[in-house]
Amino acid sequence: DSMERVFSGIQPTGILHLGNYLGAIESWVKLQDEYDTVLYSIVDLHSLTVPQDPTVLQQSILDMTAALLACGINPEKSILFQQSQVSEHQLSWILTCMVRLPRLQHLHQWKVKTAQQKHHGMMGLLTYPVLQAADILSYKSTHVPVGEDQVQHMELVQDLAQSFNKKYGQFFPVPQSILTSMKKVKSLRDPSAKMSKSDPDRLATVRITDSPEEIVTKFRKAVTDFTSEVTYDPARREGVSNLVAIHAAVTGLSVEEVVHRSIGIDTAHYKRVVAEAVIEKFAPIKNEIEKLKMDKQYLEKVLHTGSAKAKELAYPVIQEVKKLVGI
Ligand code: ADP
Ligand code: NA
Repeated sequence: DSMERVFSGIQPTGILHLGNYLGAIESWVKLQDEYDTVLYSIVDLHSLTVPQDPTVLQQSILDMTAALLACGINPEKSILFQQSQVSEHQLSWILTCMVRLPRLQHLHQWKVKTAQQKHHGMMGLLTYPVLQAADILSYKSTHVPVGEDQVQHMELVQDLAQSFNKKYGQFFPVPQSILTSMKKVKSLRDPSAKMSKSDPDRLATVRITDSPEEIVTKFRKAVTDFTSEVTYDPARREGVSNLVAIHAAVTGLSVEEVVHRSIGIDTAHYKRVVAEAVIEKFAPIKNEIEKLKMDKQYLEKVLHTGSAKAKELAYPVIQEVKKLVGI
């Protein structure tokens, strides 16, 4: 269907991790072949919701570009671009003017982040879900691949599309989430939390560029429980179940198969098995990242070309929105 458009984004700050890869990027790669128009944005404006070092941020944008290309994002099949190079902020403002404060204050991510002393009350953290809505709607996107952590924000996007349509007439498609099969990769240190780029405990997050030794150490120190058998029971055995889910996802085997093959192995040894599977999965990607990072000009060209294509799609949408709202 030519009206179908896929959009998704990732913040450039921090290095791509196992959760991003299994919860998002792996399905991004598949979607390139399933839809005609696919947009993937490095959402640098979202990174500014928390303080950034300008020099580091600039480098992170190129590093993330290299990482996405290495994972299989193909600029011939999808539009890979830098958010700030496309001026869709007008839509963000228009949508901000349509939302009430309590709607944003009730979002889980806001509650978690504003509770931290260093981020307390920062406006960007409150309103970035509206910017996300603008990112998606600027392209009249219909499908958004996201991890389970983004479900609440997708509801806001759907609400905003609907309120806009109600007020100004049918204009935006109401975008649907595409949830990946690997819904949420948990922190290795606290399996009740998600694995995240910004986790201060460096043992909690497995980065795509970690050395084999680092990966082995992180899995060795992963929090499990006092039962040594390998079983899959996410409600009662979060830690071990997270390892099983990761193992299944990186090998392409089913959870049942993974558990079956682990009969007779204790969890201490099993951690090593999972680490090896992750190392094997990441090795070619890690090599490719190293190669791509040496060609800064190529990375910049990819982003420029992608951003120009994205602009072409967003421009007529924004023009139409402006006409509808009377500016
Ligand atoms: P992070 O939370 O690590 O900073 P982002 O917010 O940039 O990551 O999210 C990029 C993509 O990765 C989103 O689609 C998000 O749903 C997905 N994602 C992030 N963390 C996880 C996780 N632990 N498990 C599954 N998917 C995740
Ligand atoms: Na495509």
